[in-house]
Amino acid sequence: MTILITGGNGFIGSHTTVALIDAGYDVIVVDNLANSHPKAIEAVRTITQRPVAFERADIRRSEELDRVFDAFDIDAVIHFAALKSVEESADDPLSYYETNVAGLLTLIQCMRRHEVSNLVFSSSAAVYGDCIDPPIDEDRRLEPTSPYGRTKAMAEALLTDLAASQSAWNISILRYFNAVGAHRSGQLGESPKGVPRNLLPALGRVALGIDDGLIVNGTDYDTPDGSCIRDYIHVADLARGHLHALEGFEKHGGLNTYNLGCGRGYSVLETIEAFERASGKAIPFTVKARRPGDIPESVSDASRAERDLGWRAEYAIEAMCADTWRWMRSFPHGYDARA
Ligand SMILES: NC(=O)c1ccc[n+]([C@@H]2O[C@H](COP(=O)([O-])OP(=O)(O)OC[C@H]3O[C@@H](n4cnc5c(N)ncnc54)[C@H](O)[C@@H]3O)[C@@H](O)[C@H]2O)c1
Repeated sequence: MTILITGGNGFIGSHTTVALIDAGYDVIVVDNLANSHPKAIEAVRTITQRPVAFERADIRRSEELDRVFDAFDIDAVIHFAALKSVEESADDPLSYYETNVAGLLTLIQCMRRHEVSNLVFSSSAAVYGDCIDPPIDEDRRLEPTSPYGRTKAMAEALLTDLAASQSAWNISILRYFNAVGAHRSGQLGESPKGVPRNLLPALGRVALGIDDGLIVNGTDYDTPDGSCIRDYIHVADLARGHLHALEGFEKHGGLNTYNLGCGRGYSVLETIEAFERASGKAIPFTVKARRPGDIPESVSDASRAERDLGWRAEYAIEAMCADTWRWMRSFPHGYDARA
C-alpha cells in the first residue's frame, strides 16, 4: 500500500514514516517545512535505508496537492500537517483556522477528486479542554479552551459529517496526549522552528546546561505531590498506533475515534526525577505560581484503541526520558545547530 503522510517531516510524522516503511508500506511525505528541518527526512532515509519520496507542498493549496495525487497512486492519507501551539493560536487564531480547518478541507476535496477515501487524522487531547475527573474516554463532551483545540474539534466535526454523508470513507481520528521521546537511534527527534516549550525538551536543555534551571508552575494542585499530572506517550508508541489505525480499516470501517495515551499520568516532579535518572544530571528547579489554564490532571482512557485496534502503549517514562536524552545529547538545538 502507498500512504501519503502530510506533515511527515515533523516530529510525530517522521517517526510514523519510519514505522510504516519498516512495516513494508510505500510512503510519500508532503510537508511545507513550516515547522521542521529538511534534515529530518534525511534522517528517516538513513534509518530506513530507503529513498523515501518527499514533496515540498502546502496542504492549503489544492494545486500543490493535486500534483502529488496525480504523480502517485495513493491508497490512504495520514494527516499530521497542522499548527500546534496553544499559546500561538490565541495570538494568531486565523492562521490556525486556515491551516488546521481550511487545510483539512482542501485535502479532503483533493482526496475526493482522486477517489482516495482512507484517512487517519491527528487530533489532540486539547479537544477535551478543562475536562476533570480522569481518565478521559472518547465519549466525553468536547469543550476545547483554546483556538488550537477548537480547530481540532471543528476538524473532527467536518470529518464526522463527511463520514455520515458517504459510506465509502474510512476515517480514524486519533486524539494524542503528550508526545515525547525520540527514535532509539538518537538520530531523529523533535526539531521544531524555535525553542520547544514542552516539559521533556525543557528538562533536556537544563541537563545540557543550555538553561540554568526549570520553572515548575504550581506545586499546590490537588495531586499526590502537588504538581500537574500529564499522560506522556512515547512517539514510537504513537507511530505504531497509526499502523494499527490503517490495519483497523478492514474491521472497523466508517469513522472511529481513539485516544492514544498511556492511560497513566506522571507528575512534573516525578518526570524531573525520571529525567535526572536517565541523564545522570541534577535538574535544579524553581517553583512559581500556577499558569492560567493549566488543569491538575490529564490522563487518557485508551482502552478503546486496545479493544478495537489491538494497540496499547509499551514505553514507560524511563524510556521516554532516555530516548529524549540520547537525541538531545547529539542534537542539543535540533538539526539547526549541526548544519
Ligand atoms: N506533539 C504533540 O504532543 C501533539 C499532541 C496532540 C496532537 N498533535 C497533532 O499531531 C500532529 C503532528 O504534531 P507534531 O508534534 O509532529 O508537530 P510538528 O510541527 O512537528 O509537525 C507538523 C508538520 O506539518 C508541517 N506543516 C505545517 N503546516 C503545513 C502546511 N500548511 N502544509 C504542509 N505541511 C505543513 C510542518 O512543517 C511540520 O513538519 C499535528 O496535527 C498536531 O496538532 C501533536
